[in-house]
Amino acid sequence: MADQRRAAVCSLFLALVVTPLVLSQELDTSGTLPKPYATSVSKDFADFTTEFSVFWGPEHIYTTTDQMLDLTLTNLSGAGFSSRRTFIYGRINMNLKLIAGDSSGTVTTYYLTSFGDYHDELDFEFLGNQTGQPYILQTNVFANGVGEREQRIFLWFDPSADFHSYSVLWNKKQIVFFVDGVPIRVFKNNEALGMPYLNKQPMGVYSSLWNGDSWATQGGRVKINWDYAPFIATFQNYNYDACEWLSNVTVPACAAADANNWWDGAAYDDLTPVQVNELRKVQEEYMVYDYCTDTKRNPTPPVECAGNL
Ligand SMILES: *[C@@H]1O[C@H](CO)[C@@H](O)[C@H](O)[C@H]1NC(C)=O
Ligand SMILES: *[C@@H]1O[C@H](CO)[C@@H](O)[C@H](O)[C@H]1NC(C)=O
Ligand SMILES: *[C@@H]1O[C@H](CO)[C@@H](O)[C@H](O)[C@H]1NC(C)=O
Repeated sequence: MADQRRAAVCSLFLALVVTPLVLSQELDTSGTLPKPYATSVSKDFADFTTEFSVFWGPEHIYTTTDQMLDLTLTNLSGAGFSSRRTFIYGRINMNLKLIAGDSSGTVTTYYLTSFGDYHDELDFEFLGNQTGQPYILQTNVFANGVGEREQRIFLWFDPSADFHSYSVLWNKKQIVFFVDGVPIRVFKNNEALGMPYLNKQPMGVYSSLWNGDSWATQGGRVKINWDYAPFIATFQNYNYDACEWLSNVTVPACAAADANNWWDGAAYDDLTPVQVNELRKVQEEYMVYDYCTDTKRNPTPPVECAGNL
């Protein structure tokens, strides 16, 4: 189903930085997903070269095909890319294969963010480790400029051995982080409790690979060993089915009760009972840190902790 576009072997991204924003929407007509309408766009195996531009380290980014990309980290630089499109509500997915072997001190990120003092952000941050020791997946949520909502889990597989899917479902009621389709975190709309929610501005999609050895691995005790550089993380199967933010789009339009805004269907208001069980299992067996239960940092749990699953 991926487009058979020319295989741009090792094409550098640099040229793309000057390419004008692509507004034309190549709509997916394969029929497996709800039909997109005015502002809703969906794409499977989207092309990295048309969807993203470089924001850091162009000489450390390689595309092996249009749909697969490597970020590399050396003692000279890491790298990062950002989407040309921005979205509000929908589903966004990326498959990642993380740095194998000794990845101590490295941080690979995949996140959605907006900008400014009151920015919103949803983070997946993969904290590397020594050979054979487990990565940590740290997630965080910023709403209205305020973050400090870290949760950390171990994964139930080796994320460097193969590609796994990391995605976000975002609608006006909840935000769900998924790993291979399993919900690992839910951030509910708790405006009724006075908590800001991510429902005022669109976010773009970002990824980066950088040196985080002051804090990332075993609390910063284990540093990067540059003898193992370059460190390489690979990205594949970027796909989305979401409300694209264009000049003629409004937030209510993306949240309107319209059959095409499938993310606003009642089925997506809450996790299903099966998903609740899956989430509980992750929390019980894989969670290593939760800001909600960190009483040193938060003597009184933040308000949303009571409302969250
Ligand atoms: C918004 O603009 C896009 C392209 O600029 C167009 O395809 C779409 O139909 C417009 N949507 C509405 C609701 O006018
Ligand atoms: C970076 O690594 C290269 C290759 O290992 C080495 O030659 C160079 O001296 C290093 N540079 C710095 C600033 O550490
Ligand atoms: C790395 O491995 C150590 C030892 O197993 C573990 O305590 C730590 O949580 C792991 N992950 C990170 C990112 O430090």
